[in-house]
Amino acid sequence: MEQIMRNFFLFLSNNKPLTKAAKKYGFRFGASRFVAGVDINGAAEKIKELNAKGFDVTVDHLGEFIDNEDEARQSAQECIQAIKVIAEKELNAQLSLKLTSLGMDISYELVMENMRKILQAGTEYGVIITIDMEDYQRTEQTLTIFKSLRQEFDNLGTVLQAYLYRVEEDLDALDSYNPYLRLVKGAYKESEKVAFPNKQDVDDNYKKIIKKNLLNENYTAVATHDDSIIAYTKELEKAHDIPRDQFEFQMLYGIRIELQERLVDEGYKVRVYMPYGDDWFGYNMRRLAERPANVAFVLKGIFKK
Ligand code: FDA
Repeated sequence: MEQIMRNFFLFLSNNKPLTKAAKKYGFRFGASRFVAGVDINGAAEKIKELNAKGFDVTVDHLGEFIDNEDEARQSAQECIQAIKVIAEKELNAQLSLKLTSLGMDISYELVMENMRKILQAGTEYGVIITIDMEDYQRTEQTLTIFKSLRQEFDNLGTVLQAYLYRVEEDLDALDSYNPYLRLVKGAYKESEKVAFPNKQDVDDNYKKIIKKNLLNENYTAVATHDDSIIAYTKELEKAHDIPRDQFEFQMLYGIRIELQERLVDEGYKVRVYMPYGDDWFGYNMRRLAERPANVAFVLKGIFKK
């Protein structure tokens, strides 16, 4: 049953008419459980609160699978605006973004133009940018763009997904870029041809790439809410004397808050991934797919408005 629910929510996450309708009808269905606000100023207040509690933050202007050039340019402007607000308000925050929100599905030239503008602003204002990893059909292009831009800009990181069979090869190929890498399990519905179907295999592969990246002495963001992966990372830290400034934990806004606080109390760097914006539907459906029990929040949201 859980697998059926999971597939159902992943199917919804990719549904364009529903995504458009959700934008039009505003913040609904428990969106505020996982999304910080509709604009960067709303999100900035929440960042300040989290910073005061000892958390670092990465903000994500929600948006994906954009097929219209004006919207892609608008999305780039939103990212630049976020960078300026982070600097002006002296927030301890980075920016995460998705290449499909900046025109990757429209043209290579457009996404590169948008990314260069954002990275220039990031350089000017001292803000690090991470390219989120999207579904498998976009993995190769995302990595190609990352590698190309990484040669021009220092303030750029990206994400690798442990559920992909190819992930270890990708990790090896990125090693010479001295990358700032966020490692995750992977959130999209992928075929067994490209991704491990079983959770245990994903977890094992996840541990393997965390260990490899740390021992390669690359900066590693372990982005998970999974106790056993967090415990494993702490064991690696002890066994290999990994300095605490070489890694951080990352978790999603609104998920396992007590665990986030406990890690800060233990002296670990914890970064909260905070999405904002009106394009919240796909993001929220993926959170429901990860944990269908979250449907309870959605139902409450429907009745509360
Ligand atoms: P897992 O799903 O095994 O969950 C472990 C435990 O965490 C669960 O038992 C539950 O207790 C709790 N939990 C997990 N998800 C929850 C939820 N939604 N609500 C409540 N509790 C939950 N993916 C991707 O493909 N590309 C990307 O760029 C990113 N970026 C990213 C950034 C950050 C900061 C995080 C934390 C995650 C991502 N992800 C991602 C998502 C990632 O791939 C993965 O889908 C989720 O993190 C869930 O997997 P866990 O590692 O948490 O483990």
